[in-house]
Amino acid sequence: MLLPPLKIGPYTINNPFVLAPMAGVTDAPFRRICRRFGAGMTTSEMTTADTSLWQTPKSRFRLDLDLDAEPVVVQIAGSEPEQLAQAAIACVDRGAQIIDINMGCPAKKVCKKLAGSALLQDEKRVASILTAVVAAVTVPVTLKIRTGWDPEHRNAVNIARIAEDCGIQSLAIHGRTRACRYKGEAEFETIARVKEAIGIPVIANGDITTSEKSLEVLRLTNCDGLMIGRGAQGRPWIFRELSLLLTSHQEKPQLDNYELRDIMLDHLSELHRFYGELTGVRVARKHLTWYCNSLANADEFRHQVVRVDSASEQIRLTRTYFDREDGGDSLAA
Ligand SMILES: Cc1cc2nc3c(=O)[nH]c(=O)nc-3n(C[C@H](O)[C@H](O)[C@H](O)COP(=O)(O)O)c2cc1C
Repeated sequence: MLLPPLKIGPYTINNPFVLAPMAGVTDAPFRRICRRFGAGMTTSEMTTADTSLWQTPKSRFRLDLDLDAEPVVVQIAGSEPEQLAQAAIACVDRGAQIIDINMGCPAKKVCKKLAGSALLQDEKRVASILTAVVAAVTVPVTLKIRTGWDPEHRNAVNIARIAEDCGIQSLAIHGRTRACRYKGEAEFETIARVKEAIGIPVIANGDITTSEKSLEVLRLTNCDGLMIGRGAQGRPWIFRELSLLLTSHQEKPQLDNYELRDIMLDHLSELHRFYGELTGVRVARKHLTWYCNSLANADEFRHQVVRVDSASEQIRLTRTYFDREDGGDSLAA
């Protein structure tokens, strides 16, 4: 499959498969693992544009940037143009090389403040925000949206044109409206229309979990890149599988048991170190649950490992599971 590199401002993203920002999931440790498996670009979890809240532990972890992984992309969410512009400047001061603006989040807490996907209802405000942020920083500004507020108002093409006119340098689109939340299947016709309508790179997003699906989405949308969210949860190696599409038609590389064990142990240690033991153990539970979906005979292991409170126990139980499963046969069919 031939896909030219994704160009965002001065950055050339060699692998067009990128990790979706996911609050509570794509923290620095997870982003590092996905990059190791070839994710072309990763984005921080959404951070509020209200910089007065940046001293909370949640924001501090979210703004702990991985400065050695270029480009460093930070996503901000808010509704006030000037506040978003100031937040963008502050992110650049901390090392952000691309600022991504969130206009896709469906969460009530966010939409109530007319941020995230709620902004799609107010095209004038979208233009004001994008103009203000682009003017405030010298780094590229990108945008992430849904296809519209609800199926009766799929205005992604309008928003995309506004974005391009305001100087946005790439656009990621989740193929659902806000009203659709995560229900049903993502649709790609709207994304295809957006791709046709604008000249900046367009990244398609929604329900891409396999190589077959990624090929289908590329065919349907003709997009410049694909963004993977839930498909990477507990499966960071998905980026290696997808990258192979670009170089050959090779069969899915087999992930052996030892490699999976090392990925999990590495991830656990990184989480414990990054968050400290108390929070690290809690955050690790959801990743362990996702990893278990790839493991055979893992019910008992899962049941135990999500209940322990210490880092050393999480690691011990994980090692024991793999010792017990003995060698290369522990992957679920
Ligand atoms: C747990 C979770 C957290 C998310 N947080 C964010 C976020 O912080 N910023 C954002 O733009 N999108 C966020 N999203 C949306 C994803 O980036 C993505 O658009 C969506 O999951 C659809 O892609 P997928 O089908 O590949 O998962 C989140 C999604 C999930 C499941």
